Amino acid sequence: MGELERFGVSMEYDLLAAFDRVIKAKGYPSRSEALRDLVRDLLVRERWEHGNQPVVGSITLVYDHHARMLEDRLTDLQHQYADLIHSSTHVHLDESHCVEVVVVSGPAERVRELANRLTAIKGVKHAQLAGTALAWVPEENANERSGHTHGTGAQGHTRDTEVYPPP
Ligand code: NI
Repeated sequence: MGELERFGVSMEYDLLAAFDRVIKAKGYPSRSEALRDLVRDLLVRERWEHGNQPVVGSITLVYDHHARMLEDRLTDLQHQYADLIHSSTHVHLDESHCVEVVVVSGPAERVRELANRLTAIKGVKHAQLAGTALAWVPEENANERSGHTHGTGAQGHTRDTEVYPPP
C-alpha cells in the first residue's frame, strides 16, 4: 500500500446515514475501507470502458452439450482467442448440462468481444462475464507485472480440471 493521505468529505446527512447502514450490513470496519473499495470499483469500471486498457476476467458459460456442434464452436473460438485465455475449466453438472469457466486477460475490447461471441453460440443457455483489473496500479508497474512468467496467457486452452458431480 502507498502512503496514506487524509481528506475531508462533505455529504448530506441522509446520504451518509444510508451509506453507514449499508457498510455496517456488509461488515466494513470503517467508512475509509468502504470508500477505498468504491474508488477501486470505479477505476476498474472506467478501465473496462476504454477499449485498449488491460483487464482480467472470467467468462462462465452454461450449456447443453447435446446441442449440435456447440462444443466444436466453443473450442474453435477459444483457439482463435488463445492469446487472451489462461485456462478453461469444464464441469459436468448433470446428464446434459455443462459449465465452462474461461479465465482471460487482455485489452478490454477483445475480452468483451470473446465473451459476446461465446455467449452468442446457439445452445449456450446462460453466460456471464465477471470483470476486474489492476486499475489502481500505475501503468509502468503493471507492465513490469506482465513480464512475470505466470501471467502471460500463452498457456492456451488446457482443460485443466474435470469435476464430476457426486453419485
Ligand atoms: Ni460436460
